[in-house]
Amino acid sequence: MTEFNKSRWANAEFSQEYRDNADIFIVERRRLLEVMKSFYRYFILSNENNNILDLGCGDGIITLNLLEIDKSISATLIDASDDMLNKASDRLSGFENINFIKASFQEILEKDILHGNFDFAVSSLAIHHLTMNEKRDFFKEIYSHLHAGGYFMNIDVMLAPTDTLEQWYMQMWREWIDETKTSLGIEGNIFDDITRRYKEFDDNKPDTLDDQLNALRDIGFKEVDCFYKYGVFAVYGGRK
Ligand SMILES: C[S@@+](CC[C@H](N)C(=O)[O-])C[C@H]1O[C@@H](n2cnc3c(N)ncnc32)[C@H](O)[C@@H]1O
Repeated sequence: MTEFNKSRWANAEFSQEYRDNADIFIVERRRLLEVMKSFYRYFILSNENNNILDLGCGDGIITLNLLEIDKSISATLIDASDDMLNKASDRLSGFENINFIKASFQEILEKDILHGNFDFAVSSLAIHHLTMNEKRDFFKEIYSHLHAGGYFMNIDVMLAPTDTLEQWYMQMWREWIDETKTSLGIEGNIFDDITRRYKEFDDNKPDTLDDQLNALRDIGFKEVDCFYKYGVFAVYGGRK
């Protein structure tokens, strides 16, 4: 069985739960998307016909948000889940130049799956399923498939540098879920165990932001920085 098939994402019910509720339990999900769109508008949009790579695309939300500001995009969306790719394909059915690839990140590292070069490679809430060594290799693979001047952005969960900070970040996450539930009028203890589940599941392998930024710098990325952070949720990236 592949690493992906052992993970919860291979389960259709689990991915459905994520699609239905991500806006409630992903801290500031709308803000994360706004940061990505602002980055795209500022650094990438001035060129037309950009080639976009969406890694761990889920139901296609990242590419859809980019298409809303740039209809000239050609996009390649990759995910290891058939279920997610079907949802993404339905969601993006009205757009041209959209290509789907079913592959796990591990397969991307082992086989020759990525072809051509991209202007923007983006991933949201997926790369934390790789170990730090795999992350490093994956960043190298991404770098090798960016045009000179192309950008990489990762929106993801990070490991805090100390246990004390990690505990506070988990508390902030719970506070955010409580606030969201109150504003949506959701009652009961639904979602109250998200932080426990996040910490317990061993297919979550977050690494510190510093380790990931340093890995990008070592590979040769420029303008490497964290563009936004709220507890364990961060947006970072760099330019080739
Ligand atoms: C939390 S969802 C994020 C989906 C979407 N990017 C978003 O922001 O809503 C994580 C996605 O990563 C995919 N995924 C998880 N592990 C993966 C792996 N090892 N290789 C490829 N895709 C993976 C899952 O199938 C799922 O679609």
